[in-house]
Amino acid sequence: MKKNWWKESIVYQIYPKSFNDSNGDGIGDIRGIIEKLDYLKELGVNVLWISPMLESPQDDNGYDISDYRRIYKDYGTMQDYEELLFQAHERGIKVLMDLVVNHTSDEHQWFLESKKSKDNPYRDYYIWKNPVNGKEPNNWGGAFGGSAWEYDNETQMYYLHLFSKKQPDLNWENEKVRQEVYDMMKFWCDKGIDGFRMDVISMISKDQAFPDGEVKSGLYGDFGPYSVHGPRVHEFLQEMNREVLSKYDIMTVGETSGVTIEEAQKYAGEDSGELNMVFQFEHVEDTSPHAKFGKWTTDRYDFKAFKKTMIKWQEELQGKAWNSLFLGNHDQPRSVSRFGNDNPAYRETSAKMLATCLHMMQGTPYVYQGEELGMTNAYFHKLEDYKDIESIQYYTELTDAGLMEPDYMMKCLMLRSRDNARTPMQWDGSEKAGFTDGEPWIKINPNCKEINAASQLDDLDSIFHYYQKLIALRKEKDIIVYGEFEPLCREDDQIFAYTRKLDEERLLTVCNFSEQSAEFEVPAEFEGSQCLITNLDRKVFKGKIVLKPYEAFVLYK
Ligand code: NOJ
Repeated sequence: MKKNWWKESIVYQIYPKSFNDSNGDGIGDIRGIIEKLDYLKELGVNVLWISPMLESPQDDNGYDISDYRRIYKDYGTMQDYEELLFQAHERGIKVLMDLVVNHTSDEHQWFLESKKSKDNPYRDYYIWKNPVNGKEPNNWGGAFGGSAWEYDNETQMYYLHLFSKKQPDLNWENEKVRQEVYDMMKFWCDKGIDGFRMDVISMISKDQAFPDGEVKSGLYGDFGPYSVHGPRVHEFLQEMNREVLSKYDIMTVGETSGVTIEEAQKYAGEDSGELNMVFQFEHVEDTSPHAKFGKWTTDRYDFKAFKKTMIKWQEELQGKAWNSLFLGNHDQPRSVSRFGNDNPAYRETSAKMLATCLHMMQGTPYVYQGEELGMTNAYFHKLEDYKDIESIQYYTELTDAGLMEPDYMMKCLMLRSRDNARTPMQWDGSEKAGFTDGEPWIKINPNCKEINAASQLDDLDSIFHYYQKLIALRKEKDIIVYGEFEPLCREDDQIFAYTRKLDEERLLTVCNFSEQSAEFEVPAEFEGSQCLITNLDRKVFKGKIVLKPYEAFVLYK
């Protein structure tokens, strides 16, 4: 397997609005990130993916960009951004920009022009369609609820928006659009960024017939088959690669929800000429039979289904393409609340166990801000506390249509809302968690008194220090990056165990995902090997052992 720096990296994701506020206006900013670079260096991560920081009306917290060449004013200035790049590079940390080019904001100059008239030079930058029988051109629903089409009175046509109506989709069929995007990408590469995380990049090519989608649940048809991994997506990415990516030594990761192994090879195969790695979601998708409305369910995840999916991606992508490793991000609930146990008795142990399981696998690991502290879901129980457009729109749509009971939907939000991951970073145990001196834009989790960076930095047994050790191990041992993966005890209901193999070296990872103790037989070949890391205090690793709840360890020989 080819060696690459981006395979050996550990990425830390920053959600800037909630990371660190340096000027007391209640939202995070670039200066705030600069202040925390030493913290990130201490953790050991060497790549930052920062969610969008460009000019935006913030309908979707920056995933609605109104100017691709200006920094969002509340986050700072271009000078601040350049300073961030400089300071990060000084510390050996690279910076990825979040590239959001499936859509722009409806306040982007291109869209303001496009809307003006049917013959405006920018008209064809977006996807406009005539009404069909006085209605929407097809039945597609948007990813945040409602129809994916918005009627515009001015020209009496509909425009497509797969996300909110303030996020019109760009028309990638138009060569001018593609050239604008490539020019803008070069602008940032020339400024010195180190790569791109590409937002919903698998959705840029639409089936030009725009057929109705299947109505699976709720009120609208599914656009998936016609605009995810669409007909020209690989052609467009190959063109982007030729025009931009191949000219720089940068890292590229494509957000590719719903991707299959075969498709992943096209996006991120060793010689695909497209991207470096995929970011796929199969392991965080719901398999619950009760999940009638996508992710809106209160059912706990199914461990065996989760394990099977994780194993599938390890085994089937091996040697063919490169994957991202993650359990949480800004769109997902907190990983310890979802896959571990955030009850105080088990929070620390289970957070460390999850990290062990993930960080010893093949792929590039991503740590989402606060995950290294074991931050938990927010569990807001009042609708007013939610700020996320997806949570609010779905609540309204499903309860208004009588498809969900309001009480049940509130419970779903508590477990599944994206805001669970968007509460401010817990830097210390003070009232505002050291995040801001002002009024935070979203409520701070009151458990910052117990869960915060300051106390964990002082405690060598903390989750922070455990992550630090896992990260250091990956940098030290090639086997963790490149070793061949092989699962053990596939059918076990509690244990997730696997080996890695590189030449003569061997690694064994064993994790108990349950709240009960669990038996495991240490393979004879690992007897007498070295324990690299463990979240409890086991000393002997031999024969049949009984793991405590959420226990994890890694052996090496
Ligand atoms: C995926 C991003 O991760 C999410 O936060 C955003 O809402 C959508 N793409 C739309 O840009």
